[in-house]
Amino acid sequence: MTLNKKSYKGTRDFFPKLKRNQNYCFSKMTEVAELFGYEPYDGPLLEEVELYKAKSGEELIDQQIYSFTDRGNREVAIRPEMTPTLARMVAQICKEVPRPIRWYSIPNLMRYERPQKGRLREHWQFNVDIFGAKNDFAELEIIQMAIMLFNNFGADENHFEILVNNRIIIDFVFNDLMTLNKNDSYKLYKIIDQSKKVGPDKFKILLDELGLPNDAKAIFTNYLKINSFQELIIFLKNHNFEFTKWDAENFYQNLKDLKIDQYINFDTSIVRGLDYYTGLVFEIFDKAPNNNRALCGGGVYDNLLQIFNEAQMTGVGFGLGDVTLNHFLENHNLLPDFTDPINDILLTYQNAQSESYTLHIGLELRKLNIKTIIPPGEIKVKKAFNFAENKGCKLIAFIGDNEVNNKTIQIKNMKTKEQTTIRLKDLIKIKDLLN
Ligand code: HAM
Repeated sequence: MTLNKKSYKGTRDFFPKLKRNQNYCFSKMTEVAELFGYEPYDGPLLEEVELYKAKSGEELIDQQIYSFTDRGNREVAIRPEMTPTLARMVAQICKEVPRPIRWYSIPNLMRYERPQKGRLREHWQFNVDIFGAKNDFAELEIIQMAIMLFNNFGADENHFEILVNNRIIIDFVFNDLMTLNKNDSYKLYKIIDQSKKVGPDKFKILLDELGLPNDAKAIFTNYLKINSFQELIIFLKNHNFEFTKWDAENFYQNLKDLKIDQYINFDTSIVRGLDYYTGLVFEIFDKAPNNNRALCGGGVYDNLLQIFNEAQMTGVGFGLGDVTLNHFLENHNLLPDFTDPINDILLTYQNAQSESYTLHIGLELRKLNIKTIIPPGEIKVKKAFNFAENKGCKLIAFIGDNEVNNKTIQIKNMKTKEQTTIRLKDLIKIKDLLN
């Protein structure tokens, strides 16, 4: 039987070019998280299914989860998201560590989805979350961090936007104004959550199928017309919303004071598919219309620690997926070229007697933090130049009897072709040639 060489459906093999690309993205994520004082954490790939059943929502459990019974008869699942694991971990230590708890991670997650542009079965997701800080502060910090990350990739308000809503507002509209029962309210959540994916025609069909009473429909239609924070505030005031539940005006003023309001807009279609959110919810979108999936989603969740019998502690955070992020960065030409590796020097030798001298120099250079590649065996000059080029070396060195006898190496700059002789005891000087 011949085995299939391809990776499992919806997963990727990370050949060096793609892995370099991923490492680059991860390094930007790590850098920003640490600039905000977030600490790294990680968890297991497998969790008990119950963890997700508690709060993640029907879609994830019924359609997307990879679950199986292990040899000890436990129902387990490959993690489809990180937030339940994070909550479980925070629940273990929340009484002992000072608050707020600020953590980040970049786990790989698996969801059984139909692979398509922007959706795979395995993706990596940058997660940042803060627990135990007052909500309005935590919301702003998390949003600031998301913006800074995109800025550090070279993106600005022309490239992406953050669309926000608040579950408190949605509940106010659905429960208080439209007086929907729990079941219809849940169904309407799911219909709205799909609205961007299914388009306006299908959205209308789904709404008609729900069969809302006319007065509820009228309020909903008005609600859907809200297109900015200013309009939201007018709508809320007209309907006597209690701003103590969520001070939309203050939130918007804070965005303006921080000069980040140009990135952010209120959008009624943002409700988030996961059940645990209780307050602000947001998603980040590419402004280019050919990439219409959310790059990132997050929000406020109040009640996740209670499922572990811990006291209430609010979490705020987001997850940013690597697949959609890459489409975004490619779309806007914001990725460096990862075709070739980056190295410092190629050390070549001309005859077998020079091999051990070359290996010795190679080790000394690596001790000086100089990335050094040695081709195995003697190599002709033309081939050596091609090799150096392919491996992204800035310098190339040729070592033969002369160099061995004089304890030197001859170095050539790949770009300028300038040649320099360096003595064995002065190897550190190679660093100057690299600048
Ligand atoms: P989520 O919206 O399910 O949120 O996922 C966050 C992001 O992960 C999405 O916006 C998308 O970019 C990416 N993503 C999700 N599923 C896939 C997939 N099948 N293929 C490719 N990319 C995907 C959460 O998972 C929350 N736990 C995030 C969070 C953290 N909320 C608070 N803290």
